[in-house]
Amino acid sequence: MPVSAIPSPRPPIAIPNTAQEVLGEAEHDALCAEITALLRAEDAVLVAHYYTSPEIQALADATGGHVSDSLDMARFGHDHAASTLVVAGVRFMGETAKILNPEKRVLMPDLAAECSLDLGCPADEFSTFCDAHPDRTVVVYANTSAAVKARADWMVTSGSALDVVNHLKDRGEKILWAPDRYLGDYVQNETGADMLLWNGACVVHEEFKGEELHALRRAHPEARVLVHPESPRAVIEQADYVGSTSGLINEVRMARATEFIVATDRGIFHKMREAAPGKVLIEAPTAGRSATCQSCAACPWMAMNGLRKLRDALRDGRNTIEVPAAVAARARRPIARLLDFAAARRQEVYGNNDA
Ligand code: 13P
Ligand code: SF4
Repeated sequence: MPVSAIPSPRPPIAIPNTAQEVLGEAEHDALCAEITALLRAEDAVLVAHYYTSPEIQALADATGGHVSDSLDMARFGHDHAASTLVVAGVRFMGETAKILNPEKRVLMPDLAAECSLDLGCPADEFSTFCDAHPDRTVVVYANTSAAVKARADWMVTSGSALDVVNHLKDRGEKILWAPDRYLGDYVQNETGADMLLWNGACVVHEEFKGEELHALRRAHPEARVLVHPESPRAVIEQADYVGSTSGLINEVRMARATEFIVATDRGIFHKMREAAPGKVLIEAPTAGRSATCQSCAACPWMAMNGLRKLRDALRDGRNTIEVPAAVAARARRPIARLLDFAAARRQEVYGNNDA
């Protein structure tokens, strides 16, 4: 039988009050031109997450960079020849890039771009938790600090968690999982693995509401429901498709449906509209912009990535990600293990590593 024991309740996370950068057309165009020239001059490439602004995503695409989920961001940065990686996303994404590429310079527009899952899993408390359960394989989500990864056997992302946990379960291993309790609960339900869960949550996905989603589905009976697995069980249970950000975009592109209810950060709509221009996309309900909704389908840390800050970081060589060598050496193992595992899976499924 699966085991689910959650350590003590975690203190609430302080959520910054960030607004996305708003630029006039002239300033936007001038910044894009300046950043494009700087990228070239600095031998740099821009790697962005789907939750960043449409302007950042468009610039990454236009300059030969990449927009993707957290697994693919790591892979792209690792494979690319540029000596500087500019990571537009949140801090753990920059750290992962640095850990995999210690010889490269990794810059971010704003080093204060954190993640509630990372903040909710301090390395010292996590280490004590691991020490108390030495019989378990430690599996951590990508959304963690370098120091937490250094304590792990495996790192997973939303796109790889089911495969990895199934693989470990088949080997008879019991799992200690951190930090997202909703993703952990979903993986446990899907795989039947024996998992002990840390008590973290994403402040964005946690806001999606099951009852309100029922009502929205009644109003849109033909809509296909797409859910990121950081969402609560009451929301996941109503999904037609559960997956990583890349998986959700692919679903909009490939599914026959023309209407979709989407439970994840609304930044993803930019790529979904590009992927399937004629399709109707509806935000899954949160508590609305009321006092009880702290971050209504918009990650406050992702919003810290603006073009001005990106230009400043590149121009001034600011906001460099540094990871102590000893921590990086230990953290590289679980990340490399995932990349090797994912590459082997692609080889099995597609017969090559290009897919
Ligand atoms: P993905 O790996 O699916 O892009 O998820 C990252 C994330 O932070 C979702 O909130
Ligand atoms: Fe972290 Fe949630 Fe923001 Fe993703 S959306 S970066 S999990 S706080």
